[in-house]
Amino acid sequence: MASRGSFSGRIGFVAAAAGSAVGLGNIWQFPYVAGVNGGGAFLIVYVFWIFVIGLPIMVGEIALGRHTKMNPYGAYRALGGKAWGLVGILGILCATMILTFYNVVSGWAFGYFVETVKGTLLEKENYSSFFQGYVSDISNNFFFSLVFMVITAFIVMRGIKKGIEGTAKILMPTLLVILILISIYGLTLPGAMEGVRFYIFPDFSQINGSVIYAALGQAFFSLSLGLGGLITYGSYVSKKENIVSSAAMVTVTDSIVAFLAGMMIFPLVFAMGQSPSEGPGLVFVALPAIFQAMGPVLGTLVGALFFLLLCFAALTSTISLLEIPVAYLRDEHKFSRKKAVIIMATIIFLLGLPSMLSFGTVETFTNFVSYQGQSKSFMDLITDIFSVIALPLGGFLMSVFIATRWKTRNLSAEITQGYSGYAGSIIEKIINFIMVYVAPLALGLMFVLTVLEKFFGIQLL
Ligand code: PFF
Repeated sequence: MASRGSFSGRIGFVAAAAGSAVGLGNIWQFPYVAGVNGGGAFLIVYVFWIFVIGLPIMVGEIALGRHTKMNPYGAYRALGGKAWGLVGILGILCATMILTFYNVVSGWAFGYFVETVKGTLLEKENYSSFFQGYVSDISNNFFFSLVFMVITAFIVMRGIKKGIEGTAKILMPTLLVILILISIYGLTLPGAMEGVRFYIFPDFSQINGSVIYAALGQAFFSLSLGLGGLITYGSYVSKKENIVSSAAMVTVTDSIVAFLAGMMIFPLVFAMGQSPSEGPGLVFVALPAIFQAMGPVLGTLVGALFFLLLCFAALTSTISLLEIPVAYLRDEHKFSRKKAVIIMATIIFLLGLPSMLSFGTVETFTNFVSYQGQSKSFMDLITDIFSVIALPLGGFLMSVFIATRWKTRNLSAEITQGYSGYAGSIIEKIINFIMVYVAPLALGLMFVLTVLEKFFGIQLL
């Protein structure tokens, strides 16, 4: 078999893993989820999940991947036998299903970028109805999401160093610069401080069960945890690297970008007198109106930069999502990289069609099921099952696996390579404590509570 490939070193791995983490989850989803869930109150709970649970889970995933040098299924099966292999399969399935809808939203971002550059976006009168019309228009969506999938496939086909790492090393710094520029601009607008206040100062009375679950799901999605993405990337990491500090860098970068995305959006939204709880349309509805108010030249420039930023962020994440099933097919079924990429990209694109049609184009997919007292679309259902519910479940199963099967002493031995002071350190004690007690309890409980709340309408918290 051809060599599996590897990252060139620490910077390459951190750029690729941060590229996976930073995505639509940070820039599109985080601000609207925070907006709907009370702003500052959500932020605090989110930070708690990210650092107390997310970071140790990320360390565990990378260690599992590097130790076994395998895809998620291979890793669990090699260390835990066939039954545990199913946990890896669940992860690969989640990655595949998440990419089906993620690619659709990436297509919207790409389409909005093109509309902005053409000058047509800023001429519109009502962005809410424009957005609704846009997402229900299959011709746009089909074309732009197809192109997005082709670009993703092309990069993944080029392999680890040239494709995945090379792209992330260019796109990630560019993305940070654009984000900082737009945030600074937003803060100079009159009324911006109102937005900063909403975002930064928590109103603790807003914290309830659904804020806690929403923050947990968002934390896992944002850090790309719970489906073996970091087992896969970890399998390309050398034994010389320090897993803990690399994971910390990825986590901090991801949090900074999510935080900055809020700092970019809320001041703009408040400065324009709009509502922060707009929902999924926030960046597609609120922001174009703001770009329009800036005038044709500045508006086109800032708008085009913004949607470009969204596309870059999405691309480094779609790459990592596609790499997960591709690694599985290469390791377990001896497919060539090229064949695995072509097959998976085609299947995923086709499976994404019902999600693409979930926005008014086809009634069956738009009102697909009903739970939580609401009608939900096909895409809502896929998001709830494979992201909101399955990712924390994947984290739960991984911590139980490490605690009971692989054992923390093997985890420690793996981490010690590349981090000689780890064994016996306080960091080791904290990570082990979280892995054995905190993560299984907290994530297990959250899984049960979220399922009860979502599908049975029972709210206990
Ligand atoms: N972390 C990505 C985001 O925030 O947009 C989404 C994602 C990418 C989730 C890769 C899972 C994954 F494996």
